[in-house]
Amino acid sequence: MTKSNNTIESVGEAELRLADGNTVKLPVFKGSEGEHAVDITKLRAETSYIAFDPGYGNTGSCESAITYIDGEKGILRYRGYPIEELAEKSSFLEVTYLLIYGHLPSESELETFSDAISQESMIHEDMKRFFNGYPATSHPMSILSSMICSLSSYYPDCLENAPEHIDNNISRLLSKVSTVAAFSYKKSIGHPFIGPLNKLGYVENFLNMMFAVPAEPYQVNPDVAKALEMILILHADHEQNCSTSTVRMVGSSQANLYASISAGICALWGPLHGGANQAVIEMLSGIVDRGGDVAGFIQRVKDKEPGVRLMGFGHRVYKNFDPRATILKSQSAKVLKALGLSTPLLDIARQLEEVALKDEYFIERKLYPNVDFYSGIILRAIGIPVNMFTVMFAIGRMPGWIAQWKEMFDTPGLRINRPRQIYTGSEKRLYVPINKR
Ligand code: CMC
Repeated sequence: MTKSNNTIESVGEAELRLADGNTVKLPVFKGSEGEHAVDITKLRAETSYIAFDPGYGNTGSCESAITYIDGEKGILRYRGYPIEELAEKSSFLEVTYLLIYGHLPSESELETFSDAISQESMIHEDMKRFFNGYPATSHPMSILSSMICSLSSYYPDCLENAPEHIDNNISRLLSKVSTVAAFSYKKSIGHPFIGPLNKLGYVENFLNMMFAVPAEPYQVNPDVAKALEMILILHADHEQNCSTSTVRMVGSSQANLYASISAGICALWGPLHGGANQAVIEMLSGIVDRGGDVAGFIQRVKDKEPGVRLMGFGHRVYKNFDPRATILKSQSAKVLKALGLSTPLLDIARQLEEVALKDEYFIERKLYPNVDFYSGIILRAIGIPVNMFTVMFAIGRMPGWIAQWKEMFDTPGLRINRPRQIYTGSEKRLYVPINKR
């Protein structure tokens, strides 16, 4: 464990008795919310043993002061502030600032930050031509990850990670990700790109680039903008999840910001991570198409039919309600009502939740709805196409990835991340020439 900011408290030692009868004393630390960790950084050097933890369920890979989760109690806080309060009272850019710079911005700090982001909203004209190189059927996550990595070619001052360029590159990335995302959608439907409008707020500008067309005026619906703002806030960080750990892993080799985040986008794409929001809507639509047989679907999940899981349920850390799902559940009904939309998918989602929460299979495994269970219903209601859902997650998670990357870089004594393994292959073998095999 790398000790970074002196907030970690040493609280004694643990003793580990090894198979050979030797014992080793290991330091024990405590975080600011009381969680304990055994420090094994010297274990191998002192004993030749390593810790084995496939899936990293018990491994603390870093110290971090950004996000706190108590999965047993269903608590999520960014920089100490409860997610419920931030979702209700803050804008996405305020939360972005909070995550990256550690405090809620004053009015003037927020204005400077918003201006810096607005000023970076265009992408280089040459980059627009990249979109022509992709087939119209491309998944927008593949376009997003390669475009974000390509930004490092256009802003080579990022390559050395010099502190004086980091803030500029952060504003660039936050701004250009929404332009690239909207352009990839326009390309997929054969519409002309709608350039950014710096007078609009972050969310309004994104919606304008997505849905305005040159042929008629477009007015952003405030209910839609509000719903999207909240979704982005709820996705903004989630400590050391798969994509964030990927960002840190890649960044630990001192790769630049764009390359590190591009790798995080790829990790997010998988259906067990951010891709679940798309998978949930596909699952709900499939159930509606088959006549709404919720009990039949739950049985297929419990029978563990290949490829059938209750998507949007379960979490590595939450063994209780995911607080983001609780907020999204109540908001989804409000958004559909405000937009005057019918609710067949929401009805199926609620029925699935009700059946699952009473079923022994889900109870004993502590499987509850996660953030993806209701988010897709809202995204669909506000007009986001299904294959753009995970892109929306990526835009929302951008502040968290950036904050975690920056925190890692600001940590003295940064070492490259390099896990070990237990080798289970052949012992040394004699090489046999090809004509004798
Ligand atoms: N439906 C049915 N069974 C499940 C589910 C589910 N959604 N999730 C876990 N299980 C079962 C699993 O089969 C296993 O059963 P058994 O003990 O009989 O083998 C047990 O619960 C433990 O599952 P696990 O796969 O070992 O749990 P994990 O901590 O490795 O995985 C997860 C966590 C989120 C990948 C998993 O719950 C899952 O696949 N959920 C569905 C996909 C999803 O909604 N992902 C979004 C996660 S939240 C947002 C994000 O991270 O991006």
